[in-house]
Amino acid sequence: MSRWNGRFRRPLHPDALRFSTSLSVDRQLYSEDIDGSIAHVEMLSKQHILSRAEAQRIRRALQEIRLEISRGKLRFDPADGSDGRFVAEDIHMAIEKRLIQKIGDAGGKLHTGRSRNDQIALDERLYLRRSINGITGLIRKLQKALVAKAEQCVDVIMPGYTHLQQAQPVLLPHHLLAYISMLDRDHERFLDCLERVKRSPLGGGALAGTSFPIDRRFVAKKLQFDCVIENSIDAVSDRDVQIEFLSACAISMMHLSRFGEELVLWTSQEWRFAEIGDAFATGSSIMPQKKNPDMAELIRGKTGRTYGNLLSLLTVMKGLPLAYNRDMQEDKEPLFDSERTLADCLHISALMLKTVKFNKDRFSKDSTTDLLLATELADYLARKGLPFRKAHSVVGKIVQASVRRGISLKELPLKEYRRHSPLFANDLWKILDLRASLYHKKSSGSTSPKEVAKAIRYWRAKLRRS
Ligand code: ARG
Repeated sequence: MSRWNGRFRRPLHPDALRFSTSLSVDRQLYSEDIDGSIAHVEMLSKQHILSRAEAQRIRRALQEIRLEISRGKLRFDPADGSDGRFVAEDIHMAIEKRLIQKIGDAGGKLHTGRSRNDQIALDERLYLRRSINGITGLIRKLQKALVAKAEQCVDVIMPGYTHLQQAQPVLLPHHLLAYISMLDRDHERFLDCLERVKRSPLGGGALAGTSFPIDRRFVAKKLQFDCVIENSIDAVSDRDVQIEFLSACAISMMHLSRFGEELVLWTSQEWRFAEIGDAFATGSSIMPQKKNPDMAELIRGKTGRTYGNLLSLLTVMKGLPLAYNRDMQEDKEPLFDSERTLADCLHISALMLKTVKFNKDRFSKDSTTDLLLATELADYLARKGLPFRKAHSVVGKIVQASVRRGISLKELPLKEYRRHSPLFANDLWKILDLRASLYHKKSSGSTSPKEVAKAIRYWRAKLRRS
């Protein structure tokens, strides 16, 4: 018989086959494809569409094929169909072909009441569910590494920045905990996406459903999905959950990238705030003194491809008429790439972070750091009744004086302060202390040691439960 049950007289041109095959990419869906097929065949048997014996044979052969593939015993060769009998253009056809090789005609019954269009949509949802489980686990691990690091350096003070200009003193653990919060929202985003992933498209058929009395809900339940995607056209023609997943990956990579960037800055000679362990840094082939933060840079660099993947699939889908179009085969590479990239980056970030050592006194001993206390001074005047806007401008002049004279705010004599405002008195000096300024913070979620300790306790408990 020629291809496609006799509709074609000639085999696909080898170049056209090479161009259109997705086997080298979608082969990684083999296990999901087999899980879906087993659920389908069990349903066919329950509905008396296949006999119990036929279903049994198919099921067993599919399990054997799973082993053959996982052990590398089945060679996928998309061109092996160029004799015109059977072209394995994708993983679905390759597995079906192997099934028929193994059990003969009975194998051909597996595809009853099903199309590759609902099959691929199902495989991808099974894949997404597994990926989301993996990624959410890796997010938790990185969060735990961040809490542990925050605890190790509870009292390290650093400048907080805005516009990359030193702004106000903050605790390093407070800064690290900001990343834990970002990662927590990433975690939520993946779980939210999972809610929509766990809906079965199987039974949508090519687009219009099937004339066989199938039981879609049975299959969904077997696969531990929450429900079916009702409308058969919708079931096979959308890729919105894939896009959601890619978007969640891109957002999470954006977070990791910012952390990567901070490590790059902090480890520079100018900052001298952090050092990455040797096992996660590299040297230079020409400059012996160099220790480069390559892992952090690569995380930052790889973020770009995840943005590209999101945009790539959005663009594939834009303007496609319903229902299935072969264009949609292009969804897999972005999907697999973003998943692998994010999983790798989460893993490496956690490992690398454990080796990072902070130069604890770097900023507390820096004489210019007390300029960070300018806001404290303004608050001091405001507490004494000066409207904040006026206080801001008075302190601005004091900062100017300190910069002009090349001395710190602490070294500036009280006389100079009082020249700008009579509200300054001897109680001023206790304000001009980095650590004291932290204790002055009262608002919840602030960088005060009390709030930070509370946040660490909160995350410790939350992460222990998850
Ligand atoms: N390899 C195809 C894909 O990934 C499977 C669905 C093919 N359906 C079709 N009618 N050609 O999209």
